[in-house]
Amino acid sequence: MPKSTLKEQFLGSDILSLDQFDIPSLLKLFSTTDHIRYLAQNSIPVDILKGTITTLLFYEPSSRTFGSFSAAIKRLGGDTVDILNPQQFSSVSKGETLEDTIRVFEAYSDLIVMRHPEKGAAQKAADAAFFIPIINAGDGVGEHPTQALLDLYTLYEKFGRLDHLTGLFAGDLLNGRTVHSLLKGLSLFKGNTIYLLSPEILKLTRPNIKLLEKRGLIVKEIRSEKEIPKKADFWYWTRVQKERFTDLAAYEKVKRSLVITPELLKKYADMDMIIMHPLPRVGEIDTKIDKDPRAVYLRSQVRNGMFIRMALVSLVLGKIK
Ligand code: NCD
Repeated sequence: MPKSTLKEQFLGSDILSLDQFDIPSLLKLFSTTDHIRYLAQNSIPVDILKGTITTLLFYEPSSRTFGSFSAAIKRLGGDTVDILNPQQFSSVSKGETLEDTIRVFEAYSDLIVMRHPEKGAAQKAADAAFFIPIINAGDGVGEHPTQALLDLYTLYEKFGRLDHLTGLFAGDLLNGRTVHSLLKGLSLFKGNTIYLLSPEILKLTRPNIKLLEKRGLIVKEIRSEKEIPKKADFWYWTRVQKERFTDLAAYEKVKRSLVITPELLKKYADMDMIIMHPLPRVGEIDTKIDKDPRAVYLRSQVRNGMFIRMALVSLVLGKIK
């Protein structure tokens, strides 16, 4: 199926990119998530996915996203077929194409959630599938729409709006697919200002910045921590994506160049901001920060991820209106 704009119409749609979302479709997803979260938090059993099977097809390592989808589906009574590392353990290792793998697993299931190391692979899978939708759980350095949806939901939960926010994005902005999707999401809303801080070799590309500016996002590149604005509403910190480096010496040089410490927070962060991270972290946030009430990465973001995926899968499968 081709990529299309959602316009609140989730039933049967592929979810490949934040480009598909507009404000009404995001708000529809958020209100569905609020409802599902209420039911889950009050232990009200819901089995709207009973009788459905979702294939979780993960060509790249994942614990969080895989676990989050798996828990989301099972909490709603659905089932999963779990295919991890098919390039090692399945017919893919015999040379099967992505297209054929998709056509086989669509015969077994109602939905495929796929993670793949190649940018564009999710679109390829969606083009190959005849009958069922595909959800992109990360396509190389491309996008990671469901992470961005949970990030946007977390911001909306905290600020009650997604416009006129100031955010700092730090870390691997070149390879971080969660950043790419989240920036597209923020560019849908008016008056958002984004500061970008990264090592020189991991900067967001010029064409990407130009595109975001064209959509109305105010983008400011900064070169050091000293330029962090004190009024930021959120910091979105990311891991340097080791798996995208061919030169490991280059990775070693930059891997710890940007770290959130208590001192950095004290100097530049407002008391009302939040600290976000898609996880996993590998040293770029000092664990002393975890208890700070502003740190939401291990508190709300992880939980919100499961709730947003519960809502998204239910909407795509038409089990909730
Ligand atoms: C992210 C990813 O896979 O892109 N992880 C996740 O899904 N939460 C971020 C990362 O791996 O750094």
